[in-house]
Amino acid sequence: MEKRYKASITGIGSFLPKKILTNADLVKMLDTTDEWITKRTGIKERRIVDNGAATSDLAIEASLRALDDAKVLPSEVDLIITSTITPDCLFPSTSCFIQEKIGANNAGAFDILAACAGFIYALSIAKNFIISGSTKTVLVVGAECLSKITDYTDRSTCILFGDGAGAAIVQRSNGKREIITTHLFADGRQADILTLPAGGSKLPTSHETVDSRSHYIQLKGKEVFKIAVNNMIDVIIKTVSKNNMKIEDIDLIVPHQSNIRIIEAAMEKLNLPKEKAFINIDRYGNTSSASIPIAIDEIEKAKMLKPGNMVLLVAFGGGLTWSSSIIKW
Ligand code: COA
Repeated sequence: MEKRYKASITGIGSFLPKKILTNADLVKMLDTTDEWITKRTGIKERRIVDNGAATSDLAIEASLRALDDAKVLPSEVDLIITSTITPDCLFPSTSCFIQEKIGANNAGAFDILAACAGFIYALSIAKNFIISGSTKTVLVVGAECLSKITDYTDRSTCILFGDGAGAAIVQRSNGKREIITTHLFADGRQADILTLPAGGSKLPTSHETVDSRSHYIQLKGKEVFKIAVNNMIDVIIKTVSKNNMKIEDIDLIVPHQSNIRIIEAAMEKLNLPKEKAFINIDRYGNTSSASIPIAIDEIEKAKMLKPGNMVLLVAFGGGLTWSSSIIKW
């Protein structure tokens, strides 16, 4: 039998644009209040790129930080996988722009799309490349400029989203932050409740698509909310049981940051204390693919965990897609 390896996250980095869009700023633009946004979402502010900046600009900074953290040279990277729903353009892939700018000249490069669940999808692909022995070093990126696809005249969606990037280096296990497991799920029957309808082959960009604002995120918030809570509970239970663990064995849950009420409702139904879930949505809003790697970078930098702690990552997004992973810190 071929030798199989274990995979670890050997370096983490993140990058957020400097510009802050607060609830007070949104109040000046829309019919809304700080109280409504805070109570319904948990969000106080989010980061927004300057005009002219693209997803790869954020991704490159996060990638360089992750490489530095892992003490890996760009020339040592074999593969770059970027999860994003806001690529710089439809093609070439954002991963190719990252490859060129960081000088990862020996790497293959491609993007994946699984919306907010995408970083864990990309991590899962990276893990399998490592355990098969075919690849030694993978740069996994979650990066978004959601401000570029957000309709700032629609108060029910524009309050939610922000920009940012996170990156992880995945290599053969060094015993730290070992990726124990990843689980991927999807339900295409619910595709229309969270979508960006225009700009693809089905509805190419035209004057009509711009007039109807179909080039912006369209969200049926209430429907997404209900499914998100149930899926988060279900996936947490499945993930621990498939790995012969109990929920008490998990030291920290790192959920995709989409709405604090989704996270709190799931924690309550699982009979878990709120503190068991990592939260930073108040500062960044929903950054889709970037939310999980930004969170794990903050957790690492704040030294919140000890070696051996079990961390459960869980994410949910358009598609619908959802995903989970257990990392042994
Ligand atoms: N400020 C003030 N009022 C607002 C508002 C805002 N920013 N946005 C919506 N409202 C109003 C609505 O117009 C509605 O008014 P009405 O009752 O007079 O019709 C009322 O608030 C309730 O709107 P509703 O959409 O039912 O609110 P909600 O409690 O479902 O919250 C979301 C809306 C979007 C915050 C919530 O549904 C949500 O977070 N959904 C999940 C979204 C998500 O995370 N998507 C990504 C998944 S990865």
